[in-house]
Parts: sequence; structure tokens; C-alpha cells
Amino acid sequence: MYPAGSDSVSMKDIICLTDSDSDLEKAASLLKSGNVVALPTETVYGLAADATNRDAVAAVFAAKGRPADNPLIIHVTTLEMMEQYAEDIPRSAYRLAEKFWPGPLTMILPKKSIVPEIVTGGLDTVAVRMPSHPVMRKVIDLVGKPLAAPSANLSGSPSPTTLKHVKDDMNGRIAAVVDGGECTVGVESTVICFDGYDSVRILRPGFITADDLRKVVDEVIIDENILSDVVPEVKEVRSPGMKYKHYSPAARVVLVCADIEGFKKYVASRKEAGMCCLIYDKDAQNFPFNYMTYGSDSEEQAKQIFSRLREADEKGVKTLYVRAPKKDGVGLAVYNRLIRAAGYEVVES
Ligand code: TXA
Ligand code: MG
Repeated sequence: MYPAGSDSVSMKDIICLTDSDSDLEKAASLLKSGNVVALPTETVYGLAADATNRDAVAAVFAAKGRPADNPLIIHVTTLEMMEQYAEDIPRSAYRLAEKFWPGPLTMILPKKSIVPEIVTGGLDTVAVRMPSHPVMRKVIDLVGKPLAAPSANLSGSPSPTTLKHVKDDMNGRIAAVVDGGECTVGVESTVICFDGYDSVRILRPGFITADDLRKVVDEVIIDENILSDVVPEVKEVRSPGMKYKHYSPAARVVLVCADIEGFKKYVASRKEAGMCCLIYDKDAQNFPFNYMTYGSDSEEQAKQIFSRLREADEKGVKTLYVRAPKKDGVGLAVYNRLIRAAGYEVVES
């Protein structure tokens, strides 16, 4: 076991904690003493540190191999906690919080100086989210401070939605992980910023959709980078995370936008050693090529996509042809992750 209360613990083997009260106390005490602990949220597992502790946050960047200019989300459990770290909060943010928090929505707000620069990558704004997962909430409350947490994957690889995914990426790099089972949403939160008093811009699509947001604010703009197949390195972006290649397994991923007949035709002309297809459950009957499935509706696809991308690597797949999800509702979030996993290799067939 680790020496409780010490400044750092051995990184040799990641400590796996359960969601029992005593284990959550251990997780909180590790965090209070400046360690990094992976925690489950309803979206994906997060790599958490005390957001007010610069060294602990630096250790998060180091464990992930994340570029310093890509800022982190701070996770809170109350509006009062948000108000301690953000200022000039628009009224519409409170209406959104009322409707969607706790839950998978992240709001970019002007930061107070108490938020260390390392958290925000030097920006004058801070991303705030109130998660709904009981484990994450309990640990934030035990620590008594917001937890800065990016997804708990190595930078660039698919986000983790199970304990095993976290262990595969983080063993030897962080102190501990808490097992919270499989994440129910499966893709990261919707990230929004405020373009005006009653106007928000979606910077990263997630489970909370544009239509959901429109019920609360007058105007919802979908940032052009979300659906773009132009590599954003060459463009200006509003959120640093947009410009990095993301979510990629080692396998080459090709995203094919087609009905199932068009998809089969496209793949038939490209059969090669080590190829595998990722199709909808309902496409599987008599499917003539090597395949995996990822559900049939957008919610199921969101929940399964990162597991399937990781599974492709475990199976030694060389090229993964993915039948694209729908581009609306929650499907937009899945599509957005897949164009990045595919390194913008998207074909219409
Ligand atoms: O569901 C989630 O959001 C998960 C769980 C753990 O909460 N977290 C997550 O964090 O996905 P991360 O770090 O992988 O993604 C945060 C995204 C990045 O694209 C980052 O660039 C953007 O939010 N972001 C953070 N702070 C920002 C800011 N001040 N302005 C613009 N974008 C920001
Ligand atoms: Mg991430």
C-alpha cells in the first residue's frame, strides 16, 4: 500500500481502488497530498489532480504526455464552487447549469486569478463542468476543491471508458485509479463558450446536443471545426484541443460515409490483410468481411466507440473501415471523434 499523507507514492504499480467509502477516502487523501488519481465520470475516466496545486496539475500533463497549451477542465459539485474560480458568469450559464448540471456539459468562462495558469494553458478563461458520477462527486467533496481532469488516456489515444483502459495507459504513470464500472455516456462532455449574452458556440459536441441547448439559449452555433475535414493545424481554432490529432488507435482508421450496401462495395474493392470493419449491429447479418459492431443508435455508438477503437489494436487490426454514424444529435459527437481518429481520412461512398 501507499504511505498515506506522504507527498508522492511509488508509481510502480497503479493502486486499484473500489468505490467503497474507505477507498474514496484514500483517493481523496492521495489527491490532497498532490498525487494524480484517475476517477470515473459519466462521460469517460478523468485523470484528476487538485486544480489549485500547480505541481499536481503539472504531473497530470506529464502522465498524459499532453501539450502544455491544451487546457484542462475543472470539475465542481456546486455553483458556489464554480463562482470561486470563474467570474462574469452570464445568466444563460446559470440556466444551462440548472437544466444540464450535474451532467456532460462544460462551459468556458472568464477565470479568476486563483486558477493556476497551468490549468488553463495561459488562457484567461477556464472550462468548468459539474459531473454527475457519484464517485467523482464524492471525491471532489472530500477534497473540498475542484479537480482538474482531462480524459485519462495517453495524449492522442482513444479516451478510457473502463478501468482496464485506464490501467493499460496509466500503469506506472499515476498513483491510483478508482473503479466506477463502465462509463454510461462514453464520449467526453459537450464543450461550449459564450459568443454573446444568449448565444453559445459548441466547440466540442457531446451527449448534450445543439437541440438540447436551443431549449435554453436563443442561439447555438456549431463551430465549423467540429465537422470539418480540413486538418485544423492549418486553421485558427477557438479551443486548443481542436488542433491535435486525437483518439487514434495504432490501426489506420478510414471513415466511410455510406449506407450498408455502399459501405460493402467500398470495402470489397480494398480488401487487404489485417483489415476489419466497424459496422452497426443491424448490419452484421451475412456481413462478408471481418467485422466488429458498435451498436445501432447514436447513444450506443457513443458508449462503445472508444472500446472498439482500443479493441482493434488488441486484435492487431491494420486498417479499420468504420461505417460512419449519423451526423446529428449525439451522432455528431461520435462522428467528430471518428474524423479525428481517422486523421481526417473520410470517404463518401
Ligand atoms: O467529459 C469530459 O469532458 C472529460 C471528463 C473527464 O470530464 N474530460 C475531458 O477533458 O474530455 P479533456 O482535457 O480531454 O478535454 C477538454 C477539452 C479540450 O479540447 C480543451 O482544449 C478544451 O476542453 N478546453 C479546456 N479549457 C478550455 C478553454 N479555457 N478554452 C477553450 N477550450 C478549452
Ligand atoms: Mg481528451
